[in-house]
Amino acid sequence: MSSVDFTGELTGRRVVLGLSGGAACFKAAELCRLLIKAGATVQVVMTEAACRFITPVTMQALSGRPVLVSQWDDREPNDMAHINLTREADAIIVTPASADFIAQLAQGRAGELLALLCLARPMARVPLLIAPSMNREMWAHPATQRNLHQVARDGANVLGVGDGEQACGEVGEGRMLEPEELMGELIACFTPQSLIGQRVVITAGPTFEAIDPVRGLTNLSSGKMGFAIASAACEAGADVTLIAGTVARATPRGVERVDVVSALDMQTAVVSAVADADIFISAAAVADWRPADLAEQKLKKDGSGHVPHLTFVENPDILSGVAHSPRAQAGDLFCVGFAAETENLRANAQAKRARKGVPLLVANIGPATFGRDDNALLLVDDEGETELPRASKRALARQLITEIARRVSGVDA
Ligand code: C5P
Repeated sequence: MSSVDFTGELTGRRVVLGLSGGAACFKAAELCRLLIKAGATVQVVMTEAACRFITPVTMQALSGRPVLVSQWDDREPNDMAHINLTREADAIIVTPASADFIAQLAQGRAGELLALLCLARPMARVPLLIAPSMNREMWAHPATQRNLHQVARDGANVLGVGDGEQACGEVGEGRMLEPEELMGELIACFTPQSLIGQRVVITAGPTFEAIDPVRGLTNLSSGKMGFAIASAACEAGADVTLIAGTVARATPRGVERVDVVSALDMQTAVVSAVADADIFISAAAVADWRPADLAEQKLKKDGSGHVPHLTFVENPDILSGVAHSPRAQAGDLFCVGFAAETENLRANAQAKRARKGVPLLVANIGPATFGRDDNALLLVDDEGETELPRASKRALARQLITEIARRVSGVDA
């Protein structure tokens, strides 16, 4: 089961999903399901070897279309499936790509329909994504590495592999990426590279301020918005560091993650990460105060009715500190703040933008966003206000990245 909801994210996209032989064919079935859910039209093409691992019937049921295997399939009126499919496709993804299939691609062979259509694709318009899957020795073999290098040089987008337990029982590199990761790669290949070459630092989630070794103060931030922004920035080509508070969320692929607990930890991580960053997006719900003293042992209830009296000190305002740093003031670091309000969104957002000293402030209603998958945003900057109406956090994150890219580059993304 995917933990990310991709619903509608590939609406109208036409994807050729190719399967060559490998135990990872079962993951292609899940990928097909996710593609359909995301709104894509999926045409499955399988090699003879793939049909030994999973049946075309399964893939037909999931894609809602007959699966093509042979280049001699007479269901195609002009008998040119390789031309018809590639002229209609927006992208081709081969999952799994076996060592043998990659060798065929490297040599430009066309003995089976899948290899043939990869060769026949209009290279300038139709991206080809290759998700290798094989035993670790096969992966490490110089012939495979040579072939992968050649295939990448010939214009394919060769995706990485995972490291871990393999179907053969060995452990190492060569596992195919997970369906969710493959979805991310496909979505990224349709996303304008508006942040290419930009280093982006994002904070997300709540902080946890310890009272004693087992208790602490935190808040209801789920980190969903910040993680979605990290994912969208990565899809747009940025080099992303995500500084995450205390949330158990999967790290978006391609994102470098730094886990922190308290506001002070977050401040240390942020100051170090923004030193060479271009954009800082502060989406974390940082605790305003922390207990003045951390009890070394668990505070005990002694039955006398005595309750502990906690005193607090204010946490540093991380965003304000970064926004007032020399690099931000010189315009080398673009800072974006968030504001979770419960009332007077507009007035509070404008006041907060001035107080924090940020060029762009993103306001939302706290109780209407914490923990939810959707949200609505109000962007406040020098130009005035821009409303991003209620949508999924992933969709809003993409719109926000487009807005930020436009402001940073000065041109429409
Ligand atoms: O003042 P308030 O907490 O509403 O400001 C919210 C914005 O400031 C968010 O961008 C949040 O990440 C950031 N912030 C911070 N350090 C704090 C408090 C908030 O960076 N101590």
